[in-house]
Amino acid sequence: MSEGAKKKEEKPRKFQAIRGTRDLLPPETALWNRVEQTAHEVFGIYGFGEIRTPILEQTELFARAVGGETDVVAKEMYSFVVADSTRLIAWKDFVAGTRRIRDLDELDIYERSLSYLSRAVREAVKAEYLPDDGETQSLLSRMNGTMLVTAAALARGRKSGVSAEFEELDKQIEDAAIAAASIKFGEEISLRPEATASVCRAYIEHNMQQLPQPVKLYYMGPMFRRERPQKGRYRQFYQIGAEILGGPDAPAIDAELIEMLMTFFDKCGLQGTELSINSIGHAADNCRRGYVAKLRAELEKVKDKLGADSQRRIETNPLRVLDSKLEHEQAIIATLPHIADHLCDECKTHYAAVKHELELRGVIYRENWRLVRGLDYYMRTTFEITAQGLGSQNAVCGGGRYDGLVELLGGPPTKGIGFAIGEDRLILSLQESGKGAAPQGRDVYIAWMGERAYATAIRAAKDLRNAGLRVELPPTELKFGKALERASKLGSRFALILGDNEVQSGEWTLKNLATSEQQKLTEQALLEYLHGL
Ligand code: HAM
Repeated sequence: MSEGAKKKEEKPRKFQAIRGTRDLLPPETALWNRVEQTAHEVFGIYGFGEIRTPILEQTELFARAVGGETDVVAKEMYSFVVADSTRLIAWKDFVAGTRRIRDLDELDIYERSLSYLSRAVREAVKAEYLPDDGETQSLLSRMNGTMLVTAAALARGRKSGVSAEFEELDKQIEDAAIAAASIKFGEEISLRPEATASVCRAYIEHNMQQLPQPVKLYYMGPMFRRERPQKGRYRQFYQIGAEILGGPDAPAIDAELIEMLMTFFDKCGLQGTELSINSIGHAADNCRRGYVAKLRAELEKVKDKLGADSQRRIETNPLRVLDSKLEHEQAIIATLPHIADHLCDECKTHYAAVKHELELRGVIYRENWRLVRGLDYYMRTTFEITAQGLGSQNAVCGGGRYDGLVELLGGPPTKGIGFAIGEDRLILSLQESGKGAAPQGRDVYIAWMGERAYATAIRAAKDLRNAGLRVELPPTELKFGKALERASKLGSRFALILGDNEVQSGEWTLKNLATSEQQKLTEQALLEYLHGL
């Protein structure tokens, strides 16, 4: 290898943020803070309290709540098994993956792995990290059974040098493989793809049904979905969401939640918002189930004309066909039956009342019969909000009612409704419409020269900062010309010039960097002057 190539190789690797994730930098972060502050204020006014849930939850929670067949759970979750020992997992995988052995050395390795695995299971039981129940005992005895015969076969083989009886072990080895595969070492956990499931889990875990109902909670933070990244779609993205749990399912609750959301968007200055609503009824034969059956039958008739995704969804979730954005499917979808015509009387009444309640609040909406949402827990009211400047990923918020969810997660029957705003998209839309944050300048840049002036400069910086001014104090001495140049580059409004003269006379020089005007002020007068601006 040439010297040059060697040098190149030795150069430390440069790291980049993982695909679909990104750094948020100033001044943009100031806008994020403003948006989040607005959420704290608006949601607080409506009686919501903040909840912070962990980013990691058991995979099973999302599978149950969001639905194992949904794209979010089936394709997009970051899931992993956390175990105390990776070696243990390796033995388990080795035994679970071995079905036949035709070689003595291989049999030797296998027999040892099985014995390690069996011992590890016994230790895991002792440490109470595997249950000491009939199932574990049966696993152990199956593995031990295999161990006995393989150990005996190994001993015989080694002694005689012949190894004719391998086939006789196949059944035993297969049995141990099946047993090993079913051992659950460690926990399956996932990075949260959304937070509604976590909030419901927390509601149950903390017995919040004993609080005055409904309980109104909001949250903000990162979510994770392994989607194909594009503008407005990230693998780590941020949501600001709110959930109302417990109490009645009065349509006024749906409407007030939506009113709060629109007020929030308004206060943020979001432009071109459009609210779409729908009702997807409830899971009963005389309501959504009946409609889905009808929809499926209609879709079967036009199956050949649909794309592969939609064809698959006829079986798994025909409602999601309505979500399709494929150009050639639009005309077909337009002819499909509408859910509004198949709602039961209660759901129909509820939907009509939600619309009435929205009108009472002056909330403008558009009905969209195709709005079905991609998560399984919804029933009755669903809604989505789009905003301008976002391209194809233009939904800034989605939400809906999910009355059965708390019960599905092992809690008491509880009504629920909520929404989540895509904060990245909200910020993007604000930036596109010129509502981005201005770079953060400084109020005062302190240009100092000389040791005595430095001591005064430190004191001045402290006093000015205490008065709430944004102050930059250069850490090393700079010539005044250079210092003033830096002050301008940082967008400072004033430069406070401190040299020997100023320190001696007690009269400080303040330069307005926009007008270049200079004035001499005593320390006290300067503080008062800057404070009064
Ligand atoms: P969702 O529709 O999956 O609903 O997500 C809500 C919002 O999060 C979307 O409208 C979008 O703005 C944003 N979002 C989703 N995925 C991404 C992504 N990959 N990149 C950027 N933004 C994204 C839920 O999550 C439900 N938990 C909402 C809810 C709360 N329903 C009831 N309560």
